[in-house]
Amino acid sequence: MTLPDRSTLSRREYARSLVAVGGATALSACLDASSDENGEENNVPSGTDDLDSLPARQYAWNEFAPRDDNGNVQPPAHHVLLPLALTERATANGEPTADAREVTESALRTLERAYEWSTDGLLFTLGYTPAYFERFDEDLPEVVDLPEPEALTSREDPSFDEFDALLHLASNHPEVVLEVEEGLFGDQEEPERNGVVLESDLTEVFERVDENRRTGFVGDGLPVEHTDVAGVPDAVPEDAPFFMGFRSGFDRTQASEDHVTIDSGPFADGTTQHVSSMDIQLEVWFEQENHYQRVSKMFSPEHAAEDLVGDVGEELGADSGLSDERIEATAADARQEGVVGHAQKAARGREDGDPPLLRRDFNTIDGDRPGLHFVSLQHEIEDFVRVREAMTGADLDVASANNGILHYIFVNRRGNYLLPPRELRALPAANPDA
Ligand code: HEM
Repeated sequence: MTLPDRSTLSRREYARSLVAVGGATALSACLDASSDENGEENNVPSGTDDLDSLPARQYAWNEFAPRDDNGNVQPPAHHVLLPLALTERATANGEPTADAREVTESALRTLERAYEWSTDGLLFTLGYTPAYFERFDEDLPEVVDLPEPEALTSREDPSFDEFDALLHLASNHPEVVLEVEEGLFGDQEEPERNGVVLESDLTEVFERVDENRRTGFVGDGLPVEHTDVAGVPDAVPEDAPFFMGFRSGFDRTQASEDHVTIDSGPFADGTTQHVSSMDIQLEVWFEQENHYQRVSKMFSPEHAAEDLVGDVGEELGADSGLSDERIEATAADARQEGVVGHAQKAARGREDGDPPLLRRDFNTIDGDRPGLHFVSLQHEIEDFVRVREAMTGADLDVASANNGILHYIFVNRRGNYLLPPRELRALPAANPDA
């Protein structure tokens, strides 16, 4: 892939485009671009040698991220999802070798020494697919619900993540996610950060599945910087953190990290992750619809009638403003208003009033078109399936164009993962207690 043209882009846009490109040349261009006026690199806080001080849960991110004025977690801005396939030399009789485990753990520990565990440093998770666990004689413990991914709606025909593992790298600094990837898999000479040499021999253990590498970004004002991409209209609001123009991931509509945690067995302090990738028909969304209609379809018709949202969701605070009555009224809104909201519908999947999913989704321009990589953590994949069914709303008596945002999103990949606890993150057996 060729590098983007720096002369036509702001420094931030340029750096973000480089994450999408990846590789050593993109990294060095990104480091140049992120140098401050004195020619010094951005200061990225160092990690720790006291690795036991790090959380037991790989997905313990919230405590290490800032919150906005309303108490909503501000997710890391830049993301890379690296799909990984085990190499032959990392296995013996089909199962990972002790050496391969050691190399993997040591590579991840190197990252924790180099970068602070925070959005300003680096956050990451390493998850494993059902295909990975199939190699073992034992099954996963019963408390772990990790089915093969499947199509979840009648409107989709997705491909599936059938490689072994997925490394999710996230940071507020675009050069950090790039240099970690290069350190782990590139052939750069001894890349270094904060005095720690990042070079490792993870290539002994994993090959990157390049065609499924995914990247993205999330945060106020970031989507609008991509109106140069085909399919991203100028109408994307200035301050929106997501392409479709609204805030998402409010504190009270997200599951807590405790809620999604597997609490017994060898994978206690682990969780399951669903990753789906979708295209968004943004031109239709912005050009055929006005703000009132967009609010009705994203939140609920009542949100539009009572002007509850503001331009991009700033009026909502830490909540999406959905009362129990409004959630229960979804079917009636479909019949009477002829339109239902995405958030309203999805909230029908709550359990005893609690949201079961911890969403960590981000925008993408992979493939030079707008989309979303939907990363969701939940206790069981079954929770995701149930909420997705509620979101699809096939039961609702409403035209498909008015059924939330279904008409605008096109799912093209799905994958299910187990995120083991940090202690077992390096090539775990299906049943480590067996
Ligand atoms: C382009 C795609 C999507 C966009 C722009 C989007 C946007 C939003 C927005 C603005 C909200 C309301 C704010 C909030 O509650 O935090 C919301 C809520 C939600 N969305 Fe999405 N979403 C998308 C896709 C999905 C998908 C694929 C799922 C899968 C199930 C999903 C599940 C949910 C859930 C569970 C809620 C919260 C419901 C509750 O309050 O309990 N969303 N989304």
